This record gives sequence, structure tokens and C-alpha cells, in this order.
Amino acid sequence: MPSQALPGFRDFYPDELELRAHIFRTWREVARRYGFEEYDGPPLEPLDIYTAKSGAEIVGQLYTFTDKGGREVALRPEMTPTFARMVAARANGLRKPIRWFSMPQLFRYERQQRGRLREHFQLNCDLVGEPGPLADAEVIALAIDVMRAFGLTEHEVRARVSDRRVLRSLLTAAGVSEAQLGDAYQAIDKAERSRAPELAAQLHAAGLGDAAIEGVFAVAAIRGRPALEAALADSPDGGAAAPLFATLDALDAMGLGAYIDVDLSIVRGLAYYTGTVFELFDAGRTLRAICGGGRYDGLLLALGGVDLPALGFGMGDVVLAELLKDRGLAPAPAANVDVFVAAVTPEDVPHALAVAHELRDAGIACEFALGGQPLGRQLKLADARGAGRAIVIGPDDRARGEVVVRDLAGKTQAPVRRDAVLTALASGAAVAHTRSGDG
Ligand code: HAM
Repeated sequence: MPSQALPGFRDFYPDELELRAHIFRTWREVARRYGFEEYDGPPLEPLDIYTAKSGAEIVGQLYTFTDKGGREVALRPEMTPTFARMVAARANGLRKPIRWFSMPQLFRYERQQRGRLREHFQLNCDLVGEPGPLADAEVIALAIDVMRAFGLTEHEVRARVSDRRVLRSLLTAAGVSEAQLGDAYQAIDKAERSRAPELAAQLHAAGLGDAAIEGVFAVAAIRGRPALEAALADSPDGGAAAPLFATLDALDAMGLGAYIDVDLSIVRGLAYYTGTVFELFDAGRTLRAICGGGRYDGLLLALGGVDLPALGFGMGDVVLAELLKDRGLAPAPAANVDVFVAAVTPEDVPHALAVAHELRDAGIACEFALGGQPLGRQLKLADARGAGRAIVIGPDDRARGEVVVRDLAGKTQAPVRRDAVLTALASGAAVAHTRSGDG
């Protein structure tokens, strides 16, 4: 038997699952704040929904096989094609704008590195049916608010925003033809990770002349709104950035402008984006992207025959978890139970079972020793489980119709009437009473 999971796949032991659960809870909570409804789709899809539109990079990473019915299938590497298919299939009956979110596990055969695995969970938030820039602001704001909900400030996380409509306008003005745009986007996407001469050689091979290649590098180097405005002043299509600027203004109005960097090196690797594109990074840039997304106005038409504008983002759990741990923002381990019920003698066990069950029925998490251990060992287990209180049931107290409620942190205790245990636990009165009684 192999002793480890496959490379790039994770075992989640309970203490690791706690961080994942914290991430899922926060994702869900913030998505709901924005009025997004949760959906899900199948983890296995027909291969061609990815080969059609996602782009070469992701297609090269697919887990794909022929199933027993002879179908070419793939484990989902991203959620967007599934989402587009689902929305397109019911587009007429759904009230627009559609705001949906999902938290799928995704699979990509990637080279394993810090922040990149072969499976990850990804919050997907997508909005369909609204072409205007407020929708873009809404989606970017949601991604930033997820960061804020985790306690990450603008000093820790940056949203780098660009727009393919702007890139297209500037690149065409620089002499890049319509047919070469895809190659130019790819070069810009790789600009941070690859060496300039290599990228220039690739662009040359795609048929770009020296001036156009220089233009591609100049566009990719634009940072900040003033620099973009200056570049557009010399461009024949100066209005191409109007939607982007309207989005930025809306984000300012929401009070989120401090998180935003205009950055034209952001273009996104996936092929289907048509407008605003953005990525979230840790401010120190020691990690890979936390989140990426943008507008993909043609995808629903391509995958479902319904012409609806759409946009959204995907935020992975892997980089996010690294960042939360780095910044000390991972939650402290939670207690397993609130209350431990201890039996002093074997005759007390049935009474302990009755009390424990009463507590569980009332929604209080509790545990008792299963093996008839001595009281000292039971209380040690109670400590290890993080229980705040123990209920100790012994023959003498029982004879008086009482149990003892012990505060495990304060090491105080008090008798409580057996029929008033729930009320005492709810109010904490027994413990408070003992503290004052014991001085
Ligand atoms: P993506 O940029 O491929 O976009 O992935 C989005 C995020 O998922 C990344 O920023 C990263 O946090 C996480 N991620 C991606 N691959 C891995 C991996 N191998 N290991 C760990 N984390 C990973 C998309 O997938 C688009 N479908 C997002 C989207 C939704 N666009 C519009 N709507």
C-alpha cells in the first residue's frame, strides 16, 4: 500500500480541515452578502467543453480519459465552462443579472510548486446579463471583500486590474494585427515569468516586426491610471478605457480604491476573456496569484448559443491558506466539544449517558469516556478535547438528586440539581456561583 497521497493531492487531517472549513465559511458568507446564490455541477465533463474555449495552457493540464462508454471526458480543471453551459441551458427562465457562486474542487496536472497543486478548491463568483462597468466593479469588490473578511488589508493584498479592450486598442495602435493579438496576450501574460529575449523570439516567430514587439513590451509596462491616460492620449481609440475607468471610479466610491493597481501586464492566461481582467496577489509578491477573473462576453454564445454578457473570478484555497498562515490569520484550533460528561463509578455510567444525550438533543457538543477510565483520566481527556466544562456524576451527588458542574479552565466547581443541568449550562450560573462562593 502506498503511504502517501498522489503528488499534488492533499490529505486533510482534522486540524488542516479546520483552515479549509474557515475558508469555505468565509467564501460563502461574503458571496451571500453580495446576493450570490450557490450552485454546483459535475466534476467530470465532456472533454470538448475545455478544448473549445479555455486555451492551450489549461488543455495541456487536463486529467482526461475515455470512459467505458467511449466518451472523451475530463476532470474539471476550472468551473467557468460548466457555469456557462448551465446558465445557457436555462437562460430564458433565469432573472438577470444572474449572480451565482460555487466552491468546486478542480484538477490540473500542473508542475507542483508553492501555491500550485494538482487539485484545489476554488471559489467561483460569476455574474451574467450585465454589460456595464458597475458589474465589473461589483465582482472585483466581492473578491476584495473576501480578502477583507479574512483580515487582509490593502497592505497585504493588491488587486491588479487591466482590460483586454484597452490592450487591444493600444496593441493595434502599436502595429499588432488582429490575428497576432492572441500571441501578444500570451507574451504579456508570461512577461513576469519569462525572459524578454525569449518572448521577443516567440513574437518574431508569430510574425511581429521589431516595432510591434517593442510596442507589446511598452504596453505591458504601463502601471497606474495616469500612465494609462498618457498612453491613450496618443492612441486613435482614446475611449477604449472608458469602461475600465468607470469601474475604477465605482470601486473608489465603494471605498475600495486603496486595493487597486492599474497594471497592463495583467491579461490572464485563459482564452475567453474579452474585457476587464484582474488578479489578486499578496503585496509582497512572494506567492502565485490568489484570484483571477474578468469579463468573458462571448463564452455563453460559444458554449450554449445564448448571447449574454458575463464576468466572474476564481479564487483558489491553496495560496490563500499559505497567506493566512504567513500572516497569522489562520483560526486557532477550536474545541472538539463544549462539555465532557464524566462518571465516577460504573453505576454512574447510565446516568452519564442520559445527561450526555439530553445535552446533545439541546445542541450542546459533548463527549464521555467510552472505556470506564478512572475520573482523573476522564478529566485529562476532557482537557485534551478543549471542553470548557465537565459534568461529574457520582453516587453521593446522585443520591442528593444533583451532579457537579466543573469549570475546567478556572478549576472551580458547583453542585447543580440534576433536572436543572441544561439551564445551568446555558446561563453559566453554576460556575459563577461557585467562584463567588469559593472566594
Ligand atoms: P485561473 O486563473 O486559472 O482562473 O484560476 C483562478 C485561481 O485559482 C488562481 O488565481 C489560483 O488561486 C487558483 N489556482 C489555479 N490553478 C491552481 C493550482 N493548480 N493549484 C492551486 N491553485 C490554483 C480560472 O480558473 C477561471 N475559470 C476563473 C474565472 C471564473 N474567470 C471567470 N470566472
